[in-house]
Order: sequence, then C-alpha cells, then structure tokens
Amino acid sequence: MDAPVIRVLESPDGVAREAAREIVALARGSARFRIALAGGSTPRALYRLLATEFRDQVDWPRVEVFFGDERCVPPDHEQSNYRIAAESLLSRVPAGKVHRIEAEAGPVVAADRYDALLKSLAPSDPLFDVVLLGMGADGHTLSLFPGFDRGGHAGRLAAAADAGPRAAVRERVTLTLDAVARSRVAIFLVTGSDKAATLRRVHEDGGPTLPASMVRARDRTLWLVDAAARG
Ligand code: 6PG
Repeated sequence: MDAPVIRVLESPDGVAREAAREIVALARGSARFRIALAGGSTPRALYRLLATEFRDQVDWPRVEVFFGDERCVPPDHEQSNYRIAAESLLSRVPAGKVHRIEAEAGPVVAADRYDALLKSLAPSDPLFDVVLLGMGADGHTLSLFPGFDRGGHAGRLAAAADAGPRAAVRERVTLTLDAVARSRVAIFLVTGSDKAATLRRVHEDGGPTLPASMVRARDRTLWLVDAAARG
C-alpha cells in the first residue's frame, strides 16, 4: 500500500471534476465496477457532474453502487446519505444495482446485514473498485470517529458506529478500514478552510492518530483537496 497522494485543485468544482475524471478512467473497460459513495455534502458536486457532464462517459448498467456509511434514519430523511446520492445522482443514471444500507433497522442489525452482503460478494477481491470518502473537521471519515474501537472491527467489513453526542444523527453504519484496504482505490474529497488544520494534522504530523489518516486502499489512496483546505 503506497503512501497517500495529495492533489491540490483550485476550487471545490476543480475537486469534483478531478474526481469525476478519476472515476471515469477507473470504470473504463472494467467488466464490473463497484463504487462506494461518500456521505456528507462535499460529494454532491461530484454526483451532479456524474449525472450530467460526465454521464455518457460511464457505462452505468455495469456500475454496482454501495455506500461508505449511513446514518440510522429512513432513506427519505434529510440526513440520509442515500437520499443525498439518490437526489443528485442515482435518480438520474441507470446504475446496475444499488445496495442501500438499511440503516433504519438500527446500527447493529443493519451493520450485520451489510457485513454479510459484502462478505457474500464474488469475486471478493478487490471488494470495491473505488471508495469515495470525505473528512470531517475532527478527522473522522466514513463513520469512523476519533477514538473508535478499531479492535472491535476485527474480521468485519461493516460495523455499527457512534457519531457522538454532538452529531445530528448519532447511530451509524460504516465500512471498516479493512473494507477500504481490500479495495483498489480510495479517493478523498476535502474542501474548505475549516478542514485545513485537520488536513495538516493528517498529512504533516505523520501520526496515524486520526481515522482519516488510517485509511489506505490496496492500490492507491488519493486526496483531492482544494486550495482553501490545503491552507
Ligand atoms: C457522513 C460522511 C462523513 C463525511 C464527513 C465530511 O455520513 O457524515 O460519511 O464521513 O464524509 O463528515 O462531510 P462534508 O463533506 O459534509 O464536510
């Protein structure tokens, strides 16, 4: 697993375009293409580009869609990562199969179901072709928050998570670091000056103390950041 690569783009739109180009290139010519979508607000610009300007560059029926994490709310809830992706992308392209995390069933039940699904996939290596990720200002990614029990994820590809008392939705389901490690490429999308201090901690302090700094994909871990986040 190579060291992460950081690519600085001028603006959030530049980050979204670069991510779209990377996804198109990775999807081209592959018999199947499994992508895990990121939650939060940053990826919306990317999803909109994939549904419009880049739409015809992807063979959507061969694309299998998964999610990096989900909040334990119904799929039509404003906090649902599925809802964000459905509105900006999935309702606008003919994706082959969409695997929604049924997080409304509760974190433990939904995590067990998702873990079983991921373990049933064949071929199981790589698990995903691309995992899209964001990063919170506290250094979380997916729904892996600072201080999470990494040992408790042993042998798991998906797990229940707790976003903490300040989160809008505390109960979560998340991919584990092992799930990303078994995937070809991880692409972080990070924009905005509020992420700059954390980005420095992740990439300059060197210590793998923050969840985002622990992420390594099998072949490539790419950080697409805008100038404001780079600081
Ligand atoms: C979630 C996301 C989370 C997100 C970061 C960044 O469900 O909240 O998976 O990891 O990527 O919180 O969110 P923004 O892109 O909104 O800053």
